[in-house]
Amino acid sequence: MTDRILRSRRSNLAVPGSSPKMLDKIRNLPADQFFMDIEDAVAPIAKPEARRNIVAALNEGGYDDKVRVVRVNDWTTEWTYQDVVEVVGGAGANLDCIMLPKVQTAEQVVALDLLLTQIEKAHGFEVGRIGIEAQIENALGLINVDAIATASPRVETIIFGPADFMASINMKSLVVGEQPPGYDVGDAYHYILMRILMAARAHDKLAIDGPYLQIKDVEGYKRVAGRSAALGFDGKWVLHPDQVAAANEVFSPRQEDYDHAELILDAYEYFTSAAGGARGAVMLGDEMIDEASRKMALVISAKGRAAGLSRTQAFTPPES
Ligand code: GLV
Ligand code: MG
Repeated sequence: MTDRILRSRRSNLAVPGSSPKMLDKIRNLPADQFFMDIEDAVAPIAKPEARRNIVAALNEGGYDDKVRVVRVNDWTTEWTYQDVVEVVGGAGANLDCIMLPKVQTAEQVVALDLLLTQIEKAHGFEVGRIGIEAQIENALGLINVDAIATASPRVETIIFGPADFMASINMKSLVVGEQPPGYDVGDAYHYILMRILMAARAHDKLAIDGPYLQIKDVEGYKRVAGRSAALGFDGKWVLHPDQVAAANEVFSPRQEDYDHAELILDAYEYFTSAAGGARGAVMLGDEMIDEASRKMALVISAKGRAAGLSRTQAFTPPES
């Protein structure tokens, strides 16, 4: 089990580090997480300026209600070490995670972990506080996903990067998140999503779905987000303010499911206690509940609490 506190990340807002205006604007958006990008949303010549903008914005503050993340460039480029040294050295106390894109091996995560540790020590920051978000964006990364998830205790999330992934496996489509024309027998992303989800669940990480690029099509966003949410993913990227509310809605449990989960937990605790008869499988209304029901209820209840829901029904023990 991880001992890191994994905060709710239903909506993960992408913002280019090259735009001070957008770095400023996200302070007022109700996203659970943002990531300030120095990778693909920033042109090579704008990367030094993006690093400076990001350090200034993080140090200015105003983002404390969100998980604060910076996406650096991947280890095959010449930029990664400088991204990390400048951003963490300059604003390490005001940032929660570094997102590492196009991760292919566990060693790439270990390299980032070592670099972070040195910077934390050099600046007197708490060693190990800054987490890592690992983006899986190609076949090798997916094959190594278990080793990547466990390469460092800093790893908090495993993220699907559909655009790069589609390119890397030669998928015959340019429409990110939608099904490739010609594939009419299911969901072309099912295996990838499930593989990432299994690694996340096996190793107590959060599983995050990537971007949906048709930013004006909020219904399309909800449809695609609904699929990964149904499987068990914890959140999805958002590229536009309109997608934030959609992500928060799709990745929160419904109020009725949250109430039901809390009722199951209370009922199960009561009926398994001496006062409730020390029973293992019991009836809650018309439904039989047991230890497996309790485990499922715990998941919904944790997601509901993280989403700020409050219960609207109390459990009353039966008259004896
Ligand atoms: C995100 O980085 C993606 O490639 O989809
Ligand atoms: Mg990518």
